[in-house]
Amino acid sequence: MIAADTRAGSGPVICIVGARPNFMKMAPILRALKAQGGGLPHVLVHTGQHYDADMSDKLFTDLRLPKPDINLEVGSGTHAVQTAEVMRRFEPIVDDLAPSCVVVVGDVNSTLACTLVAVKKGVPVAHVEAGLRSFDRAMPEEVNRVLTDQIADVLYTTERTALDNLKREGIAAERVVFVGNVMIDSLLANRALAVDPRETLRRAGLDPARLGEPPRYGVVTLHRPSNVDHREVLEPLLALLRDVSARLPLVIALHPRTRANIERFGLGPLVAQPGIALLPPQGYLEMLGLMSGATLVLTDSGGIQEETTALGVPCLTARENTERPITIAQGTNTLVGRDPAAILRAVDEILAGGGKRGRVPEFWDGHAAERIVADLARRFIGRREAVEA
Ligand code: UD1
Repeated sequence: MIAADTRAGSGPVICIVGARPNFMKMAPILRALKAQGGGLPHVLVHTGQHYDADMSDKLFTDLRLPKPDINLEVGSGTHAVQTAEVMRRFEPIVDDLAPSCVVVVGDVNSTLACTLVAVKKGVPVAHVEAGLRSFDRAMPEEVNRVLTDQIADVLYTTERTALDNLKREGIAAERVVFVGNVMIDSLLANRALAVDPRETLRRAGLDPARLGEPPRYGVVTLHRPSNVDHREVLEPLLALLRDVSARLPLVIALHPRTRANIERFGLGPLVAQPGIALLPPQGYLEMLGLMSGATLVLTDSGGIQEETTALGVPCLTARENTERPITIAQGTNTLVGRDPAAILRAVDEILAGGGKRGRVPEFWDGHAAERIVADLARRFIGRREAVEA
């Protein structure tokens, strides 16, 4: 057990969100904080790393997230600028609020920046989704994960392999608690509200009636810098999507980074195909509906690998590695790298009725956030007497 915390202030729990994949992880935690013991005082801080209506506001609405109490409005920038700006703007908030602890989720720049500020001020930090490792330091998220886990006080994990990764980095097992997956809490809480994929297909210009009953289509998301920032990588990937779309109509939800690079490299014609529908980033409920009904999903996202595993939908991950190995060992995920021939083979196998069925991993049961909040309350928030008794 962590030593009864003498450094914690008596103020609220500060919950941090910054970028799109944080929102669905924090939503169930906020709900659990509200429910726990008549409500634990908490404050929601949005760093503003993502700021577009469709990267941020729409997700807040879909997930019924409260309006952030504080928005640091840092916006885009280089990694150094973005990280430094979050730190600079978050520090006075910590001074003002004297939080009992800071809760960070995932692996984005805001996660690390806020952790660093809080830890240096002696405020305990809880990291949700700790211990995942791609072992690829070229991914900015990997650097954020390793550093956040080193200095945070309590590490909540989504799968058991995370503990092995953390032990290898010298982290004491006492700091680690296996709680399950908050992202899947959100998925299960919202599944019944998901937008019918036919509606989204129609909006995307694909007539669902012509795609079979139920409609057959694939969903694509690509946004990793390693996949979309270089023409020599992006061009063959888009050519591959063109080829796949001749077999299976595709809906591509385009991240602003990817859209900008397609324009910059003049690659638009590759995806201007009758079988390809290009959409802006989708809301949470649209995406959930699209994924639930999809024949397959092709992605380089982290979270989507987990969501497709929870939904039992085959997922092809266009990366050389994954920090979420359970989605491969137990779920529906297959790593296909970036070799177009290998990806096409994997697509054909799924279309021929193959593809992984998978099973839902341990503790991906909709109650991870409750476990986290119960543990937080016991460790940091006015429950020290109970812990010490
Ligand atoms: C960030 C996360 C990544 C996560 C992804 C999900 C880091 C290091 N990366 O990457 O882990 O998977 O979010 O989307 O934190 N932009 C907009 N509108 C916005 C936000 C960004 O147009 O609301 C544009 C900006 O021009 C920016 C680019 O998208 O340069 C990339 O945004 P940024 O936040 O730097 O990183 P992501 O690629 O989104």
